[in-house]
Amino acid sequence: PIRLGIISALQQEQNGLVDFMEHPQASTRGMRNYVGGTLWGIDAVCVLSRVGKVAAAATAATLIERFGVTHVLFTGVAGGVGEEVRVGDVVVADDLVQHDMDARPLFPVFEIPLTGQSRLPSDRHLTQTVARAARRFLHEELHEVVTEDDRHLFRLQEPRLHLGLVASGDEFIHSRDRLGDLRTVLPEVLAVEMEGAAVAQVCFEFGLPFAIIRTISDGANEAAPIDFLQFIDRVASRYAVGIVKQVCEM
Ligand code: ADE
Repeated sequence: PIRLGIISALQQEQNGLVDFMEHPQASTRGMRNYVGGTLWGIDAVCVLSRVGKVAAAATAATLIERFGVTHVLFTGVAGGVGEEVRVGDVVVADDLVQHDMDARPLFPVFEIPLTGQSRLPSDRHLTQTVARAARRFLHEELHEVVTEDDRHLFRLQEPRLHLGLVASGDEFIHSRDRLGDLRTVLPEVLAVEMEGAAVAQVCFEFGLPFAIIRTISDGANEAAPIDFLQFIDRVASRYAVGIVKQVCEM
């Protein structure tokens, strides 16, 4: 039977999701609150990891070892890196890379030492399901769950879904210079965030299927700190709840 672990870094990225849970049961482990229950008919455990690769890895490992999840879903926001990737778009990862992993000259840049992996693929089947769910949410539901004001504020005209490489590192990218460096070394990256590739590594090591969903909150440029805060406060959780609902109903 399926038990879905659902991680977000911050409260603002998952607000309201546990309100839809039937028979919620909370328990604390390692300074995090895990809430188990039934979400739209699916056995699930929701948790906030906080920010960064270590926080995300500890959370994923606990979900697997302590709460017995069979699948892991991460839902949150990211900075847009790809040329066509705009605020309000959704990026579903098909591959993840830790952009701050560099053990040269002992190992190739980005390779996770002694695993032979530099790009961690997400589960193909779960990722396809999540991508279909996200597309359905964007096309059929987004206009119902964001206000007119927010549509104007964030210029959400026709948000799109992208499938591709997501880069994670313990760094909030907020300058054109850093963004340019990242594009030079990893030209295919669509979005940058701080947890996905850590969850990917833990799930790879435990042999568990996982998928990473990211709504673009900012352009990883000088405006990123302000855009990010506004976006997570106003709309991020609408995306998370809407997409997770579509995933559970598939
Ligand atoms: N998450 C959302 N925006 C981000 C950015 N610009 N850098 C890193 N993580 C992010």
